[in-house]
Amino acid sequence: MWSSKSERVEVKVDEKSFEEKVCDVLVIGGGGAGLRAAIEAHDKKANTLVVCKSLLGKAHTVMAEGGIAAALGNVDPEDGWQVHFSDTIVEGQYLSNWRMAEIFAKEAIERVYELERYGALFDRTPEGKISQRPFGAHTYRRLCHIGDRTGLELIRTLEDQVIARGIPFMDEVMVTSIIKDGGGGRAAAALGIDIRTGMLILFRFKAVILATGGCGKVYEVTSNSYESTGDGVSMAYRAGAELMDMEMIQFHPTGMIYPAGVRGMLVTEAVRGEGGILTNAKGERFMTKYDPKRMELSARDVVARAIYSEIVAGRGTKNGAVYLDISHRGADYIKKKLPSMYDQFLEFAGVDITKERMEVAPTVHYQMGGVRVDPETGETSVRGIYAAGEVASGLHGGNRLGGNSLSDILVFGRRAGGAAADVAAGMDVPEFDRKELESEVGRVLSPFSSAGNANPFYLKEAIAKNMWKHVGIMRNEADLTAGLKELEAISTEARKSKAVGARAYNQSWLDTLQVWDMILVSEAIIRSALERKESRGAHTRSDFPEKSEEWLMNIITVQKGEKMTHELRPVPKLPPELAALIKE
Ligand code: FUM
Repeated sequence: MWSSKSERVEVKVDEKSFEEKVCDVLVIGGGGAGLRAAIEAHDKKANTLVVCKSLLGKAHTVMAEGGIAAALGNVDPEDGWQVHFSDTIVEGQYLSNWRMAEIFAKEAIERVYELERYGALFDRTPEGKISQRPFGAHTYRRLCHIGDRTGLELIRTLEDQVIARGIPFMDEVMVTSIIKDGGGGRAAAALGIDIRTGMLILFRFKAVILATGGCGKVYEVTSNSYESTGDGVSMAYRAGAELMDMEMIQFHPTGMIYPAGVRGMLVTEAVRGEGGILTNAKGERFMTKYDPKRMELSARDVVARAIYSEIVAGRGTKNGAVYLDISHRGADYIKKKLPSMYDQFLEFAGVDITKERMEVAPTVHYQMGGVRVDPETGETSVRGIYAAGEVASGLHGGNRLGGNSLSDILVFGRRAGGAAADVAAGMDVPEFDRKELESEVGRVLSPFSSAGNANPFYLKEAIAKNMWKHVGIMRNEADLTAGLKELEAISTEARKSKAVGARAYNQSWLDTLQVWDMILVSEAIIRSALERKESRGAHTRSDFPEKSEEWLMNIITVQKGEKMTHELRPVPKLPPELAALIKE
Protein backbone atom coordinates (compact mmCIF):
# COMPACT_ATOMS: atom_id res chain seq x y z
CA MET A 1 0.00 0.00 0.00
CA TRP A 2 2.33 2.70 1.20
CA SER A 3 5.75 2.57 -0.30
CA SER A 4 8.86 4.28 1.00
CA LYS A 5 9.89 4.97 -2.55
CA SER A 6 6.70 6.71 -3.63
CA GLU A 7 6.16 10.31 -4.61
CA ARG A 8 9.66 11.63 -4.67
CA VAL A 9 10.78 14.65 -6.68
CA GLU A 10 14.17 14.64 -8.36
CA VAL A 11 16.69 16.82 -6.53
CA LYS A 12 20.41 17.29 -6.69
CA VAL A 13 21.79 18.11 -3.28
CA ASP A 14 24.81 20.29 -2.64
CA GLU A 15 26.17 21.95 0.50
CA LYS A 16 23.54 24.71 0.24
CA SER A 17 20.70 22.20 0.45
CA PHE A 18 21.14 21.69 4.17
CA GLU A 19 23.12 22.51 7.24
CA GLU A 20 25.41 19.67 8.39
CA LYS A 21 25.90 18.57 12.03
CA VAL A 22 28.34 15.87 13.03
CA CYS A 23 28.36 13.95 16.32
CA ASP A 24 29.27 10.56 17.72
CA VAL A 25 25.82 9.66 19.01
CA LEU A 26 22.60 11.25 17.82
CA VAL A 27 19.62 10.82 20.14
CA ILE A 28 16.25 11.39 18.48
CA GLY A 29 13.63 12.20 21.11
CA GLY A 30 13.61 14.38 24.21
CA GLY A 31 11.49 12.21 26.52
CA GLY A 32 12.71 9.98 29.33
CA ALA A 33 14.38 7.31 27.17
CA GLY A 34 16.19 9.88 25.04
CA LEU A 35 17.43 11.94 27.98
CA ARG A 36 18.64 8.91 29.95
CA ALA A 37 20.39 7.59 26.80
CA ALA A 38 22.03 10.97 26.23
CA ILE A 39 23.30 11.14 29.82
CA GLU A 40 24.92 7.71 29.51
CA ALA A 41 26.45 8.34 26.09
CA HIS A 42 27.82 11.69 27.28
CA ASP A 43 29.20 10.19 30.50
CA LYS A 44 30.98 7.61 28.36
CA LYS A 45 32.68 10.50 26.56
CA ALA A 46 30.70 10.31 23.33
CA ASN A 47 30.03 13.62 21.63
CA THR A 48 26.25 13.44 21.95
CA LEU A 49 23.48 15.52 20.41
CA VAL A 50 19.77 15.35 21.33
CA VAL A 51 17.12 16.42 18.84
CA CYS A 52 13.41 16.49 19.46
CA LYS A 53 10.42 17.46 17.40
CA SER A 54 8.72 19.34 20.19
CA LEU A 55 10.30 21.03 23.21
CA LEU A 56 12.82 19.23 25.39
CA GLY A 57 10.94 17.15 27.94
CA LYS A 58 7.53 17.62 26.35
CA ALA A 59 6.93 13.93 25.87
CA HIS A 60 4.48 11.15 26.60
CA THR A 61 6.68 10.29 29.61
CA VAL A 62 4.66 12.77 31.66
CA MET A 63 1.56 10.65 30.98
CA ALA A 64 2.90 7.87 33.20
CA GLU A 65 1.48 9.66 36.17
CA GLY A 66 0.92 7.12 38.91
CA GLY A 67 4.42 5.82 39.44
CA ILE A 68 7.56 4.01 38.38
CA ALA A 69 7.60 0.25 39.01
CA ALA A 70 10.64 -1.23 40.73
CA ALA A 71 10.85 -3.96 43.37
CA LEU A 72 12.40 -1.90 46.15
CA GLY A 73 10.38 -3.77 48.77
CA ASN A 74 9.98 -0.64 50.87
CA VAL A 75 6.32 -1.21 51.69
CA ASP A 76 6.06 -4.95 51.00
CA PRO A 77 9.42 -6.48 51.96
CA GLU A 78 8.46 -9.78 50.27
CA ASP A 79 8.86 -8.07 46.89
CA GLY A 80 12.00 -8.58 44.83
CA TRP A 81 13.16 -8.49 41.19
CA GLN A 82 12.11 -12.13 40.81
CA VAL A 83 8.43 -11.32 41.50
CA HIS A 84 8.57 -8.25 39.28
CA PHE A 85 10.07 -10.41 36.53
CA SER A 86 7.30 -12.97 36.91
CA ASP A 87 4.53 -10.33 36.89
CA THR A 88 5.98 -8.77 33.74
CA ILE A 89 6.17 -12.10 31.88
CA VAL A 90 2.76 -13.39 33.04
CA GLU A 91 0.88 -10.15 32.37
CA GLY A 92 2.73 -9.72 29.07
CA GLN A 93 0.98 -13.00 28.22
CA TYR A 94 4.32 -14.75 27.63
CA LEU A 95 5.17 -12.70 24.55
CA SER A 96 7.92 -10.71 26.27
CA ASN A 97 11.56 -11.35 25.58
CA TRP A 98 12.70 -13.07 28.80
CA ARG A 99 16.15 -11.52 28.77
CA MET A 100 14.73 -8.01 28.48
CA ALA A 101 12.35 -8.75 31.36
CA GLU A 102 15.19 -10.10 33.49
CA ILE A 103 17.48 -7.13 32.84
CA PHE A 104 14.55 -4.81 33.43
CA ALA A 105 13.38 -6.28 36.75
CA LYS A 106 16.92 -6.40 38.13
CA GLU A 107 18.09 -2.96 36.99
CA ALA A 108 14.90 -1.00 37.64
CA ILE A 109 15.74 -0.89 41.34
CA GLU A 110 19.07 0.84 40.89
CA ARG A 111 17.63 3.21 38.28
CA VAL A 112 15.07 4.46 40.82
CA TYR A 113 17.76 5.10 43.44
CA GLU A 114 19.85 6.79 40.78
CA LEU A 115 16.90 9.02 39.88
CA GLU A 116 16.66 9.97 43.52
CA ARG A 117 20.38 10.81 43.60
CA TYR A 118 19.79 12.92 40.49
CA GLY A 119 17.28 14.92 42.53
CA ALA A 120 13.81 13.40 42.12
CA LEU A 121 11.64 14.11 45.15
CA PHE A 122 9.65 10.92 45.79
CA ASP A 123 6.79 10.66 48.25
CA ARG A 124 7.98 8.97 51.44
CA THR A 125 6.79 6.27 53.83
CA PRO A 126 6.42 7.29 57.51
CA GLU A 127 9.96 5.90 58.07
CA GLY A 128 11.31 8.10 55.28
CA LYS A 129 11.77 5.49 52.55
CA ILE A 130 10.53 5.97 48.97
CA SER A 131 6.80 5.28 49.13
CA GLN A 132 5.27 2.57 46.92
CA ARG A 133 1.62 2.20 45.95
CA PRO A 134 -0.38 -0.68 44.46
CA PHE A 135 -1.11 -0.78 40.71
CA GLY A 136 -2.99 -3.20 38.51
CA ALA A 137 -1.62 -6.78 38.38
CA HIS A 138 1.56 -6.00 40.32
CA THR A 139 1.74 -8.64 43.08
CA TYR A 140 3.05 -6.14 45.62
CA ARG A 141 2.91 -2.41 46.25
CA ARG A 142 5.66 -1.44 43.85
CA LEU A 143 4.97 1.95 42.28
CA CYS A 144 7.36 4.63 43.53
CA HIS A 145 5.60 7.91 43.00
CA ILE A 146 5.45 11.64 43.31
CA GLY A 147 1.70 12.15 43.88
CA ASP A 148 0.23 11.63 40.42
CA ARG A 149 3.01 13.56 38.70
CA THR A 150 5.71 10.89 38.56
CA GLY A 151 6.51 11.12 34.84
CA LEU A 152 6.73 14.88 35.10
CA GLU A 153 9.20 14.68 37.99
CA LEU A 154 11.24 12.09 36.11
CA ILE A 155 11.51 14.36 33.09
CA ARG A 156 12.31 17.42 35.20
CA THR A 157 15.09 15.53 36.93
CA LEU A 158 16.63 14.17 33.73
CA GLU A 159 16.38 17.55 32.03
CA ASP A 160 18.33 19.08 34.92
CA GLN A 161 21.02 16.44 34.46
CA VAL A 162 21.24 17.01 30.70
CA ILE A 163 21.49 20.75 31.13
CA ALA A 164 23.98 20.51 34.02
CA ARG A 165 26.25 18.34 31.85
CA GLY A 166 26.00 20.81 28.96
CA ILE A 167 24.75 18.14 26.56
CA PRO A 168 23.72 20.00 23.41
CA PHE A 169 20.14 19.69 22.26
CA MET A 170 18.07 21.05 19.40
CA ASP A 171 14.34 21.23 19.88
CA GLU A 172 11.68 21.78 17.22
CA VAL A 173 13.63 19.63 14.81
CA MET A 174 11.68 16.86 13.11
CA VAL A 175 13.88 14.02 11.92
CA THR A 176 12.32 12.34 8.89
CA SER A 177 14.65 9.61 7.72
CA ILE A 178 17.76 7.58 8.40
CA ILE A 179 20.33 7.43 5.61
CA LYS A 180 22.65 4.43 5.30
CA ASP A 181 26.33 4.27 4.41
CA GLY A 182 27.57 3.49 0.89
CA GLY A 183 27.40 -0.27 1.46
CA GLY A 184 23.83 0.05 2.74
CA GLY A 185 24.48 -1.97 5.87
CA ARG A 186 25.01 0.68 8.54
CA ALA A 187 23.15 3.84 9.47
CA ALA A 188 25.31 6.88 8.75
CA ALA A 189 23.13 9.99 8.79
CA ALA A 190 19.65 11.35 9.40
CA LEU A 191 17.71 14.02 7.60
CA GLY A 192 15.74 16.52 9.66
CA ILE A 193 13.75 19.70 9.34
CA ASP A 194 14.41 22.72 11.51
CA ILE A 195 10.76 23.49 12.16
CA ARG A 196 11.47 27.16 13.02
CA THR A 197 13.17 27.95 9.70
CA GLY A 198 12.15 25.10 7.42
CA MET A 199 15.82 24.46 6.61
CA LEU A 200 16.94 20.86 6.17
CA ILE A 201 19.63 19.52 8.47
CA LEU A 202 21.84 16.53 7.76
CA PHE A 203 22.99 14.83 10.95
CA ARG A 204 26.04 12.62 10.48
CA PHE A 205 26.84 10.20 13.31
CA LYS A 206 28.50 6.98 14.31
CA ALA A 207 25.36 5.69 16.02
CA VAL A 208 21.78 6.89 16.36
CA ILE A 209 19.29 6.17 19.14
CA LEU A 210 15.59 6.26 18.37
CA ALA A 211 13.74 7.40 21.47
CA THR A 212 10.76 8.78 19.61
CA GLY A 213 7.98 7.28 21.73
CA GLY A 214 4.83 5.70 20.36
CA CYS A 215 2.05 6.15 17.84
CA GLY A 216 -1.06 6.87 19.94
CA LYS A 217 -2.11 9.61 17.55
CA VAL A 218 -3.06 7.06 14.92
CA TYR A 219 -6.16 6.58 17.11
CA GLU A 220 -8.98 9.06 17.60
CA VAL A 221 -9.25 8.61 21.37
CA THR A 222 -5.85 8.63 23.02
CA SER A 223 -3.97 9.90 26.03
CA ASN A 224 -1.08 10.75 23.69
CA SER A 225 -0.30 14.25 22.53
CA TYR A 226 0.58 15.75 19.17
CA GLU A 227 4.08 14.25 19.04
CA SER A 228 3.13 10.57 19.12
CA THR A 229 2.77 9.87 15.41
CA GLY A 230 4.99 6.81 15.10
CA ASP A 231 7.88 8.54 13.33
CA GLY A 232 10.54 6.30 14.92
CA VAL A 233 8.85 3.06 13.90
CA SER A 234 8.34 4.40 10.40
CA MET A 235 11.94 5.63 10.04
CA ALA A 236 13.36 2.35 11.31
CA TYR A 237 11.11 0.32 9.01
CA ARG A 238 12.04 2.43 5.99
CA ALA A 239 15.72 1.94 6.87
CA GLY A 240 15.16 -1.83 6.76
CA ALA A 241 14.76 -2.62 10.47
CA GLU A 242 12.45 -5.33 11.76
CA LEU A 243 9.32 -4.40 13.69
CA MET A 244 7.74 -6.77 16.18
CA ASP A 245 4.22 -7.37 17.58
CA MET A 246 2.77 -4.21 16.09
CA GLU A 247 -0.77 -5.43 16.79
CA MET A 248 -0.24 -4.96 20.53
CA ILE A 249 -1.76 -1.57 21.34
CA GLN A 250 -2.60 -0.78 24.95
CA PHE A 251 -6.00 0.68 25.77
CA HIS A 252 -5.69 2.31 29.18
CA PRO A 253 -8.95 1.55 30.99
CA THR A 254 -9.60 5.08 32.13
CA GLY A 255 -9.57 8.19 30.00
CA MET A 256 -11.73 11.28 30.32
CA ILE A 257 -14.87 11.26 28.24
CA TYR A 258 -15.96 14.88 28.24
CA PRO A 259 -15.76 17.72 27.38
CA ALA A 260 -14.94 16.74 23.79
CA GLY A 261 -11.66 18.68 23.75
CA VAL A 262 -10.12 16.43 26.43
CA ARG A 263 -11.71 13.14 25.42
CA GLY A 264 -9.10 10.41 25.98
CA MET A 265 -7.01 12.41 28.45
CA LEU A 266 -5.49 10.04 31.00
CA VAL A 267 -7.15 9.33 34.33
CA THR A 268 -4.26 7.74 36.17
CA GLU A 269 -4.43 4.17 37.38
CA ALA A 270 -3.29 5.63 40.69
CA VAL A 271 -6.95 6.55 41.28
CA ARG A 272 -7.70 2.81 41.42
CA GLY A 273 -4.41 2.20 43.23
CA GLU A 274 -5.61 4.55 45.94
CA GLY A 275 -8.95 2.71 46.24
CA GLY A 276 -11.05 4.03 43.34
CA ILE A 277 -14.18 1.97 42.58
CA LEU A 278 -15.68 1.34 39.15
CA THR A 279 -19.46 1.06 38.73
CA ASN A 280 -21.79 0.99 35.74
CA ALA A 281 -24.85 3.13 35.22
CA LYS A 282 -26.93 0.62 37.20
CA GLY A 283 -24.66 1.13 40.19
CA GLU A 284 -23.12 -2.37 39.89
CA ARG A 285 -19.48 -2.85 40.81
CA PHE A 286 -18.96 -4.79 37.61
CA MET A 287 -15.36 -5.93 38.12
CA THR A 288 -16.80 -8.68 40.36
CA LYS A 289 -17.79 -10.38 37.08
CA TYR A 290 -14.49 -9.97 35.27
CA ASP A 291 -11.84 -10.49 37.96
CA PRO A 292 -13.41 -10.97 41.40
CA LYS A 293 -10.01 -11.40 43.02
CA ARG A 294 -8.16 -8.36 41.78
CA MET A 295 -11.19 -6.24 40.98
CA GLU A 296 -10.23 -2.68 39.89
CA LEU A 297 -6.56 -3.63 40.17
CA SER A 298 -6.70 -6.33 37.55
CA ALA A 299 -4.44 -6.07 34.49
CA ARG A 300 -5.06 -3.17 32.14
CA ASP A 301 -6.28 -5.31 29.26
CA VAL A 302 -8.82 -7.00 31.54
CA VAL A 303 -10.16 -3.76 33.04
CA ALA A 304 -10.29 -2.04 29.63
CA ARG A 305 -12.25 -4.95 28.13
CA ALA A 306 -14.57 -4.99 31.15
CA ILE A 307 -15.40 -1.29 30.81
CA TYR A 308 -15.83 -1.66 27.05
CA SER A 309 -18.16 -4.65 27.54
CA GLU A 310 -20.32 -2.79 30.07
CA ILE A 311 -20.70 0.17 27.74
CA VAL A 312 -21.46 -1.99 24.68
CA ALA A 313 -24.03 -3.95 26.71
CA GLY A 314 -25.89 -0.70 27.38
CA ARG A 315 -24.86 -0.39 31.01
CA GLY A 316 -22.78 2.72 30.44
CA THR A 317 -23.66 6.31 31.31
CA LYS A 318 -25.44 8.47 28.77
CA ASN A 319 -22.02 9.89 27.85
CA GLY A 320 -20.79 6.38 26.93
CA ALA A 321 -18.69 5.82 30.04
CA VAL A 322 -18.64 4.13 33.44
CA TYR A 323 -18.17 5.75 36.83
CA LEU A 324 -14.95 5.88 38.82
CA ASP A 325 -15.30 7.03 42.41
CA ILE A 326 -12.57 7.99 44.86
CA SER A 327 -14.59 10.46 46.95
CA HIS A 328 -14.72 8.02 49.92
CA ARG A 329 -11.00 8.71 50.54
CA GLY A 330 -11.78 12.25 51.64
CA ALA A 331 -10.71 15.62 50.26
CA ASP A 332 -7.38 15.97 52.07
CA TYR A 333 -6.13 12.55 51.02
CA ILE A 334 -7.23 13.02 47.39
CA LYS A 335 -5.64 16.44 47.07
CA LYS A 336 -2.38 15.09 48.49
CA LYS A 337 -2.18 11.83 46.53
CA LEU A 338 -3.97 12.79 43.32
CA PRO A 339 -3.51 16.54 42.92
CA SER A 340 -3.43 16.49 39.11
CA MET A 341 -6.61 14.45 38.89
CA TYR A 342 -8.33 16.86 41.25
CA ASP A 343 -7.26 19.86 39.12
CA GLN A 344 -7.89 18.15 35.79
CA PHE A 345 -11.50 17.22 36.53
CA LEU A 346 -12.32 20.50 38.20
CA GLU A 347 -10.83 22.65 35.45
CA PHE A 348 -11.89 20.69 32.38
CA ALA A 349 -15.11 18.97 33.39
CA GLY A 350 -16.33 21.01 36.37
CA VAL A 351 -16.29 17.83 38.47
CA ASP A 352 -15.02 17.91 42.06
CA ILE A 353 -13.66 14.38 42.50
CA THR A 354 -13.55 14.77 46.28
CA LYS A 355 -17.37 14.80 46.16
CA GLU A 356 -18.45 13.46 42.75
CA ARG A 357 -17.85 10.45 40.55
CA MET A 358 -15.72 10.68 37.42
CA GLU A 359 -16.91 9.32 34.08
CA VAL A 360 -14.25 7.28 32.31
CA ALA A 361 -13.79 5.02 29.27
CA PRO A 362 -10.79 3.32 27.61
CA THR A 363 -8.24 5.41 25.73
CA VAL A 364 -5.28 4.39 23.57
CA HIS A 365 -2.22 4.84 25.73
CA TYR A 366 0.80 2.83 24.60
CA GLN A 367 2.31 0.62 21.90
CA MET A 368 3.79 -2.61 23.23
CA GLY A 369 5.08 -3.49 19.78
CA GLY A 370 7.67 -1.49 17.90
CA VAL A 371 11.17 -1.84 16.58
CA ARG A 372 12.81 -5.17 17.45
CA VAL A 373 15.96 -4.66 19.53
CA ASP A 374 18.78 -6.67 21.03
CA PRO A 375 17.97 -7.08 24.75
CA GLU A 376 21.46 -6.17 25.96
CA THR A 377 22.22 -3.14 23.82
CA GLY A 378 19.03 -1.90 22.21
CA GLU A 379 20.57 -2.25 18.77
CA THR A 380 17.98 -2.87 16.05
CA SER A 381 18.43 -5.24 13.13
CA VAL A 382 20.14 -2.38 11.24
CA ARG A 383 23.68 -1.71 12.42
CA GLY A 384 24.14 1.68 14.04
CA ILE A 385 20.44 2.18 14.83
CA TYR A 386 19.49 1.71 18.49
CA ALA A 387 16.04 2.11 20.01
CA ALA A 388 14.81 2.56 23.57
CA GLY A 389 11.52 3.20 25.30
CA GLU A 390 8.09 2.97 23.73
CA VAL A 391 9.45 2.84 20.17
CA ALA A 392 11.18 -0.45 20.99
CA SER A 393 9.40 -3.76 21.39
CA GLY A 394 10.17 -6.87 23.42
CA LEU A 395 9.74 -6.04 27.09
CA HIS A 396 6.01 -5.70 27.53
CA GLY A 397 4.77 -8.49 25.27
CA GLY A 398 1.00 -8.51 24.95
CA ASN A 399 0.18 -6.18 27.82
CA ARG A 400 2.28 -3.66 29.73
CA LEU A 401 1.94 -3.31 33.47
CA GLY A 402 1.29 0.23 34.65
CA GLY A 403 4.47 1.92 35.85
CA ASN A 404 6.74 -0.45 33.90
CA SER A 405 7.18 2.14 31.16
CA LEU A 406 9.04 4.60 33.38
CA SER A 407 11.49 1.99 34.61
CA ASP A 408 11.78 0.67 31.02
CA ILE A 409 12.94 4.03 29.68
CA LEU A 410 15.57 4.42 32.40
CA VAL A 411 16.91 0.86 32.17
CA PHE A 412 17.00 0.59 28.40
CA GLY A 413 17.69 4.27 27.70
CA ARG A 414 20.84 3.90 29.78
CA ARG A 415 21.81 0.65 28.05
CA ALA A 416 21.26 2.01 24.54
CA GLY A 417 23.24 5.17 25.36
CA GLY A 418 26.13 3.13 26.74
CA ALA A 419 26.20 0.67 23.85
CA ALA A 420 26.03 3.41 21.23
CA ALA A 421 28.89 5.29 22.92
CA ASP A 422 31.00 2.12 23.08
CA VAL A 423 30.55 1.47 19.37
CA ALA A 424 31.22 5.11 18.52
CA ALA A 425 34.50 5.05 20.42
CA GLY A 426 35.98 2.55 18.00
CA MET A 427 35.08 4.04 14.62
CA ASP A 428 35.07 7.08 12.35
CA VAL A 429 31.94 8.85 11.18
CA PRO A 430 30.86 6.76 8.17
CA GLU A 431 30.25 8.17 4.70
CA PHE A 432 26.61 8.33 3.75
CA ASP A 433 25.01 7.23 0.51
CA ARG A 434 24.52 10.38 -1.55
CA LYS A 435 21.90 8.85 -3.84
CA GLU A 436 19.83 7.75 -0.85
CA LEU A 437 20.09 11.25 0.58
CA GLU A 438 18.97 12.81 -2.71
CA SER A 439 16.04 10.46 -2.83
CA GLU A 440 15.06 11.31 0.75
CA VAL A 441 15.38 15.06 0.20
CA GLY A 442 13.11 14.56 -2.81
CA ARG A 443 10.55 12.73 -0.71
CA VAL A 444 10.62 15.28 2.08
CA LEU A 445 10.23 18.27 -0.26
CA SER A 446 7.66 16.63 -2.54
CA PRO A 447 4.58 17.99 -0.69
CA PHE A 448 5.48 21.48 -1.99
CA SER A 449 5.21 20.37 -5.61
CA SER A 450 2.19 18.12 -5.18
CA ALA A 451 -0.36 18.50 -7.97
CA GLY A 452 -3.16 17.60 -5.55
CA ASN A 453 -4.73 19.60 -2.78
CA ALA A 454 -5.56 17.07 -0.06
CA ASN A 455 -5.47 18.64 3.39
CA PRO A 456 -3.20 16.61 5.70
CA PHE A 457 -5.09 17.78 8.79
CA TYR A 458 -8.22 15.97 7.59
CA LEU A 459 -6.16 12.97 6.54
CA LYS A 460 -4.83 12.68 10.10
CA GLU A 461 -8.40 12.74 11.35
CA ALA A 462 -9.45 10.12 8.82
CA ILE A 463 -6.64 7.76 9.86
CA ALA A 464 -7.48 8.15 13.55
CA LYS A 465 -11.22 7.59 13.04
CA ASN A 466 -10.58 4.55 10.88
CA MET A 467 -8.25 2.95 13.44
CA TRP A 468 -10.64 3.66 16.31
CA LYS A 469 -13.57 2.21 14.39
CA HIS A 470 -11.93 -0.88 12.89
CA VAL A 471 -8.85 -1.73 14.99
CA GLY A 472 -10.10 -1.16 18.52
CA ILE A 473 -10.32 -3.20 21.71
CA MET A 474 -12.49 -5.88 20.07
CA ARG A 475 -11.31 -6.94 16.62
CA ASN A 476 -12.38 -9.37 13.92
CA GLU A 477 -11.39 -10.19 10.38
CA ALA A 478 -14.21 -8.25 8.72
CA ASP A 479 -13.47 -5.04 10.64
CA LEU A 480 -9.72 -5.32 10.18
CA THR A 481 -10.13 -5.91 6.46
CA ALA A 482 -12.49 -2.95 6.22
CA GLY A 483 -9.93 -0.88 8.13
CA LEU A 484 -7.19 -1.86 5.71
CA LYS A 485 -9.37 -0.99 2.74
CA GLU A 486 -10.20 2.41 4.16
CA LEU A 487 -6.54 3.01 4.95
CA GLU A 488 -5.74 2.26 1.33
CA ALA A 489 -8.20 4.93 0.22
CA ILE A 490 -6.67 7.41 2.69
CA SER A 491 -3.24 6.45 1.41
CA THR A 492 -4.29 7.29 -2.17
CA GLU A 493 -5.50 10.68 -0.99
CA ALA A 494 -2.31 11.19 1.03
CA ARG A 495 -0.23 11.03 -2.14
CA LYS A 496 -2.00 14.25 -3.13
CA SER A 497 -1.37 15.91 0.20
CA LYS A 498 -0.09 19.41 -0.32
CA ALA A 499 2.09 21.75 1.68
CA VAL A 500 1.16 25.38 1.17
CA GLY A 501 3.16 28.50 1.97
CA ALA A 502 6.78 28.99 3.03
CA ARG A 503 8.87 26.41 4.86
CA ALA A 504 9.19 28.03 8.32
CA TYR A 505 6.69 26.61 10.84
CA ASN A 506 4.77 25.02 8.00
CA GLN A 507 2.20 22.79 9.65
CA SER A 508 0.76 21.44 6.40
CA TRP A 509 4.24 20.23 5.42
CA LEU A 510 4.96 18.57 8.77
CA ASP A 511 1.47 17.07 8.89
CA THR A 512 1.89 15.60 5.41
CA LEU A 513 5.11 13.86 6.40
CA GLN A 514 3.49 12.64 9.61
CA VAL A 515 0.44 11.39 7.73
CA TRP A 516 2.74 9.22 5.61
CA ASP A 517 4.36 7.80 8.75
CA MET A 518 0.96 7.28 10.38
CA ILE A 519 -0.31 5.35 7.35
CA LEU A 520 2.74 3.11 7.42
CA VAL A 521 2.41 2.43 11.15
CA SER A 522 -1.36 1.86 10.87
CA GLU A 523 -0.80 -0.59 8.05
CA ALA A 524 1.70 -2.52 10.19
CA ILE A 525 -0.77 -2.61 13.10
CA ILE A 526 -3.68 -3.83 10.97
CA ARG A 527 -1.70 -6.43 9.06
CA SER A 528 -0.21 -7.84 12.28
CA ALA A 529 -3.67 -7.85 13.88
CA LEU A 530 -5.00 -9.81 10.91
CA GLU A 531 -2.07 -12.18 11.20
CA ARG A 532 -2.57 -13.03 14.91
CA LYS A 533 -5.53 -15.40 14.88
CA GLU A 534 -6.07 -15.68 18.63
CA SER A 535 -6.84 -13.41 21.59
CA ARG A 536 -3.88 -12.53 23.77
CA GLY A 537 -3.37 -9.56 26.07
CA ALA A 538 -4.41 -6.32 24.44
CA HIS A 539 -5.23 -8.05 21.15
CA THR A 540 -8.77 -9.46 21.31
CA ARG A 541 -10.35 -11.14 18.29
CA SER A 542 -14.06 -11.92 18.59
CA ASP A 543 -13.58 -14.45 15.76
CA PHE A 544 -10.67 -16.13 17.59
CA PRO A 545 -11.61 -15.65 21.26
CA GLU A 546 -9.16 -18.20 22.72
CA LYS A 547 -5.48 -17.83 23.55
CA SER A 548 -3.56 -20.53 21.76
CA GLU A 549 -0.23 -22.24 22.55
CA GLU A 550 0.48 -22.27 18.82
CA TRP A 551 0.53 -18.52 18.91
CA LEU A 552 3.46 -18.18 21.29
CA MET A 553 4.95 -16.29 18.39
CA ASN A 554 6.32 -12.83 17.82
CA ILE A 555 5.07 -11.29 14.60
CA ILE A 556 7.93 -9.68 12.69
CA THR A 557 7.16 -7.00 10.12
CA VAL A 558 9.83 -6.08 7.61
CA GLN A 559 10.03 -4.37 4.25
CA LYS A 560 10.97 -6.57 1.30
CA GLY A 561 11.29 -4.48 -1.84
CA GLU A 562 8.19 -2.33 -1.80
CA LYS A 563 6.18 -4.86 0.17
CA MET A 564 5.33 -5.05 3.88
CA THR A 565 5.94 -8.67 4.84
CA HIS A 566 5.38 -10.72 8.00
CA GLU A 567 7.17 -13.60 9.59
CA LEU A 568 6.24 -15.63 12.67
CA ARG A 569 9.05 -16.31 15.10
CA PRO A 570 8.66 -18.48 18.20
CA VAL A 571 9.07 -16.48 21.41
CA PRO A 572 12.50 -17.39 22.88
CA LYS A 573 12.02 -20.01 25.63
CA LEU A 574 12.72 -19.08 29.24
CA PRO A 575 15.79 -20.82 30.69
CA PRO A 576 14.83 -23.22 33.50
CA GLU A 577 16.11 -21.05 36.38
CA LEU A 578 13.90 -18.16 35.23
CA ALA A 579 10.96 -20.41 34.34
CA ALA A 580 11.07 -21.55 37.98
CA LEU A 581 10.33 -17.98 39.09
CA ILE A 582 7.06 -17.73 37.18
CA LYS A 583 3.93 -17.63 39.33
CA GLU A 584 0.55 -17.28 37.65
O1 FUM B 1 -2.16 5.44 34.85
C1 FUM B 1 -1.03 5.87 34.84
O2 FUM B 1 -0.59 6.63 35.70
C2 FUM B 1 -0.13 5.46 33.76
C3 FUM B 1 1.00 4.86 34.01
C4 FUM B 1 1.71 4.12 32.95
O3 FUM B 1 1.24 4.08 31.83
O4 FUM B 1 2.75 3.53 33.24
